[in-house]
Amino acid sequence: MELVELMNKTHDESRQGEAFQATESPVDFHKKFYIESYGCAMNFSDSEVVAAILQENQFSATSQFEQADLVLINTCSIREKAELTIRKRLTEFRKVKQSRPGMLIGVLGCMAERLKSQLLEQEKLVDLVIGPDAYRSLPALIEEASSGQKGVNVLLSRDETYGDISPVRLNSNGITAFVSITRGCNNMCSFCVVPFTRGRERSRSAHSIIQEIQQLVDNGYKEVTLLGQNVDSYYWKDEVTGQMVTFANLLEMAALVSPDLRIRFSTSHPKDITDDVLMTMAKYENICKCIHLPVQSGSTRLLQLMNRTYSREWYLSKVDRIRELLPDCGITSDMIAGFCTETEEDHQDTLSLMDYCGFDMSYMYFYSERPGTLAARRFKDDIPLDIKKRRLQEIVDKQGELSTRNNQRDIGKTFKILIETDSKRDNNDWTGRTSQNKITVFPKSSSLQKPGDYVWVKITDCTRATLLGKIVDHP
Ligand code: SAM
Ligand code: SF4
Ligand code: F3S
Repeated sequence: MELVELMNKTHDESRQGEAFQATESPVDFHKKFYIESYGCAMNFSDSEVVAAILQENQFSATSQFEQADLVLINTCSIREKAELTIRKRLTEFRKVKQSRPGMLIGVLGCMAERLKSQLLEQEKLVDLVIGPDAYRSLPALIEEASSGQKGVNVLLSRDETYGDISPVRLNSNGITAFVSITRGCNNMCSFCVVPFTRGRERSRSAHSIIQEIQQLVDNGYKEVTLLGQNVDSYYWKDEVTGQMVTFANLLEMAALVSPDLRIRFSTSHPKDITDDVLMTMAKYENICKCIHLPVQSGSTRLLQLMNRTYSREWYLSKVDRIRELLPDCGITSDMIAGFCTETEEDHQDTLSLMDYCGFDMSYMYFYSERPGTLAARRFKDDIPLDIKKRRLQEIVDKQGELSTRNNQRDIGKTFKILIETDSKRDNNDWTGRTSQNKITVFPKSSSLQKPGDYVWVKITDCTRATLLGKIVDHP
């Protein structure tokens, strides 16, 4: 696992490259499936759609792949390392299959889409290869594969959103849930494989999103994260009423479902986040004050090569605007070190931009060339690995300084925290998050408290990644 991913283990996206398995389902149908997910939150959300489709078709979940009739791996292609991790895992599944020939192994997600039937040749014992837009064909493909044929469907769609499917929540804490609002991506960042693996962007019906959120509230959930590669470009038109729904409108509709429900969203593209979105955030207390605004590089020259469609100055002015309209808003980012032609000066631009923006947290990577992307076709991957790694380490160190400084500034302040679960280290403590998405740990103060409750916590200490405090009365 990359160093950076370890540092940010507490954030949802830190699941990138990590396995995440479905727990047992309560009903015991006769066939069992096992699903393991890698990559971004969208993939974890998709696995919940897959689980719903399988449950409809008489499969129940197991957390033991050795006992499963169907083993699925939902894959990520974002960096070479992510694909290597998945190939290793497939080798382990194959070993079990040798002693259980009836077991089916299926590859889902972005790697299935990228490699298509090549995967069947490379990974001999894989029976199913299904791309992100083809999950409805799973039952038919399982039947085909059971009769000894290989089941492949990697067709990308212009309109599939799985909007009518109620996801089966996997490994849920019963408090927080992901809700997909868009699929695919129309941007063509030159380093990125996502437009090729996920296809064109499409927005899910606002009605089905709000209905899903309402169901979550009815089932006791207290926080939803609206997901998309670029949530700010959400746009949906109701064919019956002609009503048009932008992301700012959708945020407002979600906020109005229940004042007790927290709304988060990810990811925002700096070119698309609007004043309307920022003002809607300011208007509703239950829309969390945190924006994930990946910058990728602090150098305008590199941003151009990356095809990010904004300059350093544009990004800085967005950050200024956020600070103006939402003074207490957390801002987090993504950075890539060692992109094609990056000079020391470009790298220094990234470090100085980080200083200016004072990010609360970042996901940081070194550039990994992906076959077929614009950058792979147009530019040479010319920064030696040792330089990429050194620059990445400097970015990680810079982020460490900023996170520590920002957390220290929170000492003495009081935050409203949504209790999520027992602290991993000590079950006398709770863990929850501030509106700004900072993990906060504090002692339990009453036997009546439970996950899903809101409490006020005064911060007394911190580490780089966590705030520490104690419960106080409503200020
Ligand atoms: N849609 C989001 C956006 O535009 O910010 C991000 C999507 S991507 C799943 C998450 C992050 O992976 C990106 O922000 C970028 O920092 C990183 N990433 C994508 N392609 C990469 C590559 N080829 N090498 C290294 N990091 C990469
Ligand atoms: Fe990839 Fe860019 Fe789309 Fe994000 S916005 S998914 S980085 S192409
Ligand atoms: Fe990976 Fe696909 Fe997400 S490439 S990061 S799982 S969209």
